[in-house]
Amino acid sequence: MSAEKFEKSKTIELRKKHVGPSCKIFFSHDPIKIVQAKGQYMYDEKGQCYLDCINNVAHVGHCHPDVVKAAAQQMELLNTNSRFLHDNLVFYAQRLQATLPEKLSVCYFVNSGSEANDLALRLARQYSGHKDIITLENAYHGHVSSLIDISPYKFHQLSDAEQNQFVHVAPSPDVYRGKYRADYSDPATAYANEVKAIIDTVHKKGGKIAAFIAESLQSCGGQVIPPVGYFQQVAKHVHKAGGLFIADEVQVGFGRVGTNFWAFQLQGEDFVPDIVTMGKPIGNGHPMSCVVTTREVAEAFMSSGMEYFNTFGGNPVSCAIGLAVLDVIVKEDLQGNALRVGQYLTNLLEKQKEKHPLIGDIRGCGLFVGVELVKDRLKLTPATAEAQEVIYKLKEQHILLSADGPHRNVLKFKPPMCFTMEDADLVVEKIDLILTELDDALGLKLSSTLNPGNECSKMKMPTDENGHQFPNGLVHSRGSSQGGPHQTKRLKT
Ligand SMILES: Cc1ncc(COP(=O)(O)O)c(C=O)c1O
Repeated sequence: MSAEKFEKSKTIELRKKHVGPSCKIFFSHDPIKIVQAKGQYMYDEKGQCYLDCINNVAHVGHCHPDVVKAAAQQMELLNTNSRFLHDNLVFYAQRLQATLPEKLSVCYFVNSGSEANDLALRLARQYSGHKDIITLENAYHGHVSSLIDISPYKFHQLSDAEQNQFVHVAPSPDVYRGKYRADYSDPATAYANEVKAIIDTVHKKGGKIAAFIAESLQSCGGQVIPPVGYFQQVAKHVHKAGGLFIADEVQVGFGRVGTNFWAFQLQGEDFVPDIVTMGKPIGNGHPMSCVVTTREVAEAFMSSGMEYFNTFGGNPVSCAIGLAVLDVIVKEDLQGNALRVGQYLTNLLEKQKEKHPLIGDIRGCGLFVGVELVKDRLKLTPATAEAQEVIYKLKEQHILLSADGPHRNVLKFKPPMCFTMEDADLVVEKIDLILTELDDALGLKLSSTLNPGNECSKMKMPTDENGHQFPNGLVHSRGSSQGGPHQTKRLKT
C-alpha cells in the first residue's frame, strides 16, 4: 500500500479546509509531506531523504523496531485503564524511578507534556495551599489554559489585563544575552536573587508562592543553559516561602544532555526538584507523559479526597512503549552517543564561530545545542532573518533544523539520539557554506586582532552599554541586511 493517499496539493487543500488555521506547518510556502521515517531520517512522498536535526520526540530514532514491536505485542494482548492491576504499570514506574534521585518515587502517568505540567501545578498548589507561580521569561510549558498563563513565550502576545495575576516572571538565566552574563561575578546568585525579590514582592502584596517552574534547560526560550548553582539557590528561596520546585524535562530529559540522564542533574548532585515532568521523548512519538514527585507531595494531593483518574495515562501499551524506550537507550548506549556526538558537533560549530562573524554563541550539552546568530557581537543584534535563511537553505538541501528563542535567532539542534558524527559533519558543512554567503552579503568580517585563540585573552575586552564584556570583536564593513533573507513567524518545535 502506498504511504500517500492523496496528491500533495490535495493534502494541502484538505488541510486548509478541515484543520484549524492556528495549527501551523513548517515551511508554509512549500510544506514538506513526510510519509515514512527511520532513525534520524525522514522521507517525503517522492522518497527523498531529510536529515532530522530537530525531532527530540523520536528520541531513540523514528519507528525504532523494538518500540514498534513492544507496542504491537501489547496491543494484541490488552489495552485498558489503570484501574486494573497490571505489571507493565508498576514495572515501568520502578524502572523510571531507578533513573531518578531516591526521593522522587511516586509517578502519575498522563498523556502529554501539557497534562504533566498542569498536574504538577495542581500538586504544588494542593501541597502548599498557595496560589502564586513563578515562571521564567520566554518559557513555554504547554498549550492548556493553566500553562499559557505561565508561558511568557505565548502570553507576551496578550495584554496586561489578560495575564494571570498569580503568575510572576523571573529573568531567564541566560548568561549570553540576559541581565547577568558570563563575565558577571556570580550570575547564578544574581539570577536566584531576582527570584527571591519576586517572592518578597508577592509576600508584600499578600500572595503566597506555590511553585517555581522552569525547564532544566530552556529550549523554546533559546537553548539557555542556567549557571550551575542557580537551581539550588532558587529552591532554597522557594522552599522557604513554602513552595515547590518543578523541573520541566519535557524537552530535555532521557539522556539527551549526555553526562546525565536528567538535565536538572547538570546543576549538581545536591539539587533535587520536588516535581519532575516528562513528555515528548518518553514514548518515542506515542502520546504519553509522566509526573514524578515525592511521597510527601503525593500524600498531600491525596488528602484533598479527590480521586485522580486519567483514562489513557499509564495504560499497558504506553507502559510497554516506555519500557522499550528505556531499554533501547541502554542497549544502544544512546546517552553515551549524545555525549560523544554532541561534543563532536559542538567542536565543529566552535570552529565555525572562529570563521563566521554571524555566530555569536555556541552553547549546549550533549545533543541539545544552540547556535545564536548575531549581526554584531558587541551589541548582540539578533540575526533573526539570517537564522531563518539558514533554516530555509538547509531545508532545500534536505536538512531539517529550526530557529527559536525570543528573537528567533538561535539555531536549535535536538536530533534523535542516534545522530552520528557523519550527520554532524554534513549539517555543519552546509551551515558553513550558507554562513559564508550570508557573511559576504552582509559585509561582515571578524576583526583579525580580536580573533579567539590569538591575542584575545590578553586584551581588554570591549563592553556594551551595560558594562558587559564580550569575547570577540566584530567589525561591520557594510551596513545591515538590505535585500537580505526573508522573515518567518515563529513555529515552536
Ligand atoms: C518544555 C515544554 N513543556 C511542555 C510542553 C507541552 O507538551 P505537549 O505539547 O506534549 O503538551 C512542551 C511542548 O513543546 C515543551 O516544550
